[in-house]
Amino acid sequence: MRTPIMAGNWKMYKTIQEALAFVDAVKEPLKTYPQAEKAICAGFVTLAPLAEALKDTQIKLGAQDMFWEEQGAYTGEVAPTMLQGICDLVIIGHSERRQHFCESNDTVNKKIKAALAHGLTPIVCVGESLDQNQAGETAAFVGEQVKAAFDGISAGQAAGIVVAYEPIWAIGTGLAATPEEANRIIGTVVRGTLTSLYGQDTAQSIRIQYGGSIKPDNVEALMKQPEIDGGLVGGASLKPEDFITLVRAAAQSAAR
Ligand code: PGA
Repeated sequence: MRTPIMAGNWKMYKTIQEALAFVDAVKEPLKTYPQAEKAICAGFVTLAPLAEALKDTQIKLGAQDMFWEEQGAYTGEVAPTMLQGICDLVIIGHSERRQHFCESNDTVNKKIKAALAHGLTPIVCVGESLDQNQAGETAAFVGEQVKAAFDGISAGQAAGIVVAYEPIWAIGTGLAATPEEANRIIGTVVRGTLTSLYGQDTAQSIRIQYGGSIKPDNVEALMKQPEIDGGLVGGASLKPEDFITLVRAAAQSAAR
C-alpha cells in the first residue's frame, strides 16, 4: 500500500510572513489526517523559517529546485548541501523550469542523483505539452522523460523517488486531466515505464502524483483513482482551507 502524498507547490508566491501565517492556520487541522503525507514546497528564502515553524508537525518541507554541485562559483544557485537538514524534499524538473530555465532531461537526472546523495526525496515532474497531447505523442514523450530521469538510478534508490505526472496543458489553466485519463497515463506510461526499468515490485512501490489544476472540487475524484498517489498542487495549495480539503481527500483515498 502506497501512502499518498499531497504536496503544495507554492511557486513564486508567499513572503516569509505569509508562509508562517499559512502554517499557523493548517498545522492543527492537518493533524486529523495522518493517513496522508503532506508537504509544502516553498521559495528558498522562506525555507529556514518554515523549517523552524514545522518542527513539531507532520508537515514535510520541500524546495522547488536546486543545483547539483555541492558548492562552487555558481552565482545565484542553491546547493543540495544548503537544503540538507532544512528540507525533506525537492521538486526536480518542474515544467516551468524546463520551459523558462533551460532544464533538460540531462540536468534533471543530475539533480535527482544529487538530491538522493544528500538525503532529499526528489519529486520528479514529467508531462507533455498540449501539442504533444493532441498529436498523440503523450506516451512516447512522457515515457522518454521517465527513462531519462531514472538513468543510472538503482531500484533501491528509485523506490524512494516520487514522480509527479503533470500535463503542461493542465497546469494553472483550470483544465485538469479527467481522473480516468490521469489514472491511465500514470498507470500505463509512468508506472509502465518504471516496471520495464525496475520490475513489478519496485514500480508498484513508487509513488506517482497527479498535478495540474487540482482543486477542492475535483480532488476527490482524482484521489480515488488507484494509480494516483496524491497530488502536486499549485494554485489551490496557497489557501489554508483549500489545502486542508486536498489533504483530507488524499487521506480518505488511503483509507479505502
Ligand atoms: P496548478 O499547478 O495546481 O496551479 O495547476 C500545479 C503545478 O505546477 O505543480
